[in-house]
Amino acid sequence: MNVCPHKGAPLCEGPQCGTTAWDGGGKFISCRDNEIVRCAWHGWEFDIRSGASLVDPDVKARTFPVTVEGGNVFVLA
Ligand code: FES
Repeated sequence: MNVCPHKGAPLCEGPQCGTTAWDGGGKFISCRDNEIVRCAWHGWEFDIRSGASLVDPDVKARTFPVTVEGGNVFVLA
């Protein structure tokens, strides 16, 4: 389903994007470009492949297998 596990927002309204991470040396860097879906309501971020929350991997958005054929994406629900 198209539902954020936080408060039920439609995840399709959020962007596919990257995230920000600490580089271990005092800076934040942009990374994982296009690997993340960010919820439009409160900004929770999910791995686009696994659905796992970046903050708590035990919290997951539902995912579906897909195929890409000829530039079209098919959802295998
Ligand atoms: S409803 Fe998605 S982050 Fe709150």
